[in-house]
Amino acid sequence: MKDLSSQTYSVASSPRDNMETKPTPADVKPVIILGIESSCDDTSAAVLRDGVLLSNVTASQKVHEAYGGVVPELASRAHQQNIVPVVDMALKQAGVAKEELSAIAFTRGPGLMGSLLVGGSFAKGLAASLGIPMIDVNHLQGHVLAHFIKEKPSPDSTTESAIPPFPFLCLLVSGGNSQIVLVKAYNDMQIIGQTIDDAAGEAIDKCSKVMGLGYPGGPIIDRLARLGNPKAYQFAEPHIPGYDYSFSGLKTSFLYNLRDWLKEDPDFIEHHKEDLAASLEYTVVDILMKKLRLAARDLKIRHVAVAGGVSANTGLREAFREHAKRYHWHIYIPKFSFTTDNAAMIAMVGTFKYKDKDFCPMDAPAYSRVTIK
Ligand code: KG4
Repeated sequence: MKDLSSQTYSVASSPRDNMETKPTPADVKPVIILGIESSCDDTSAAVLRDGVLLSNVTASQKVHEAYGGVVPELASRAHQQNIVPVVDMALKQAGVAKEELSAIAFTRGPGLMGSLLVGGSFAKGLAASLGIPMIDVNHLQGHVLAHFIKEKPSPDSTTESAIPPFPFLCLLVSGGNSQIVLVKAYNDMQIIGQTIDDAAGEAIDKCSKVMGLGYPGGPIIDRLARLGNPKAYQFAEPHIPGYDYSFSGLKTSFLYNLRDWLKEDPDFIEHHKEDLAASLEYTVVDILMKKLRLAARDLKIRHVAVAGGVSANTGLREAFREHAKRYHWHIYIPKFSFTTDNAAMIAMVGTFKYKDKDFCPMDAPAYSRVTIK
């Protein structure tokens, strides 16, 4: 098969190319990237022109709710059903014809293998048919670099959203990850701390499950926590060295305490769910911020970002704002639409990599497990 990665992709020439004048902005072809994300249970496609968001369409999969967690086989099947209409809608909303695309960026990993294969194979087919390069994207880098997505200013907006300068620290918290990342450049990231067991989102989801609340637990705990007392109950906090995290002790402590309280009052959860949610959220946020504070202090970095699904959490966002005031941090909190899995962040990484001609070959396999680098 033809290896598209080794092809050179020339910018369409204009009559001025032969003249010894500097190209004007009108001569420079825009970089239009289609991003495709399918690592878990969201099928998403987005279009970015020169890093500016034109569309970001996501089809979430409700089918998993009945099972209290993502069922990989069902996720792959739903991706297959969703991928064509989602990409079609993203192009239509962007007002971009597929022939105008510069490249296709897709999530190569980490994620569920079957889910990754759907997005990756679709990207390959489309890129091959259009004769344009393919760009493989690390999903975790996508979350971190979501802070660089530019949006068209709306008529009533007065300020542009801030973009972090390198180096900055990023707290990456999702259902599968809890890590502190030192971001030195768009393609140079170092994990300086990470969970040694459960991820923060996973712990929240499991505690929510034992309380009999719905799935995913994060948004439900968030909503209930706003109505409760964060100091009502105390749960175990880890004592591990360095910048690493642990959430399994908190989960066990929550479970054992709840078991004891339920023995005394079978309706304990119903009577106290707001306080339980608020106390759980408070403990998770406290654990996350303690290590982040330590890292920021030791590395003398004041530009601190948060990313991933759990960055939607109200308590965590408040803690960031409070740290900005108290420790003079410059903070970067993503828009809600960029917290959960989305293709805009994949197209953003694609935009960076396109400029470096960092393309991937057609035979690039998916990776279910891969680190941020
Ligand atoms: O990044 P993400 O969409 O998927 C991956 O894990 O890759 O993150 C999902 C996680 C889930 O654990 C979900 O419960 C959590 O993010 N989450 C939240 C909130 N919204 C989503 N956790 C706390 N508060 C929220 N508002």
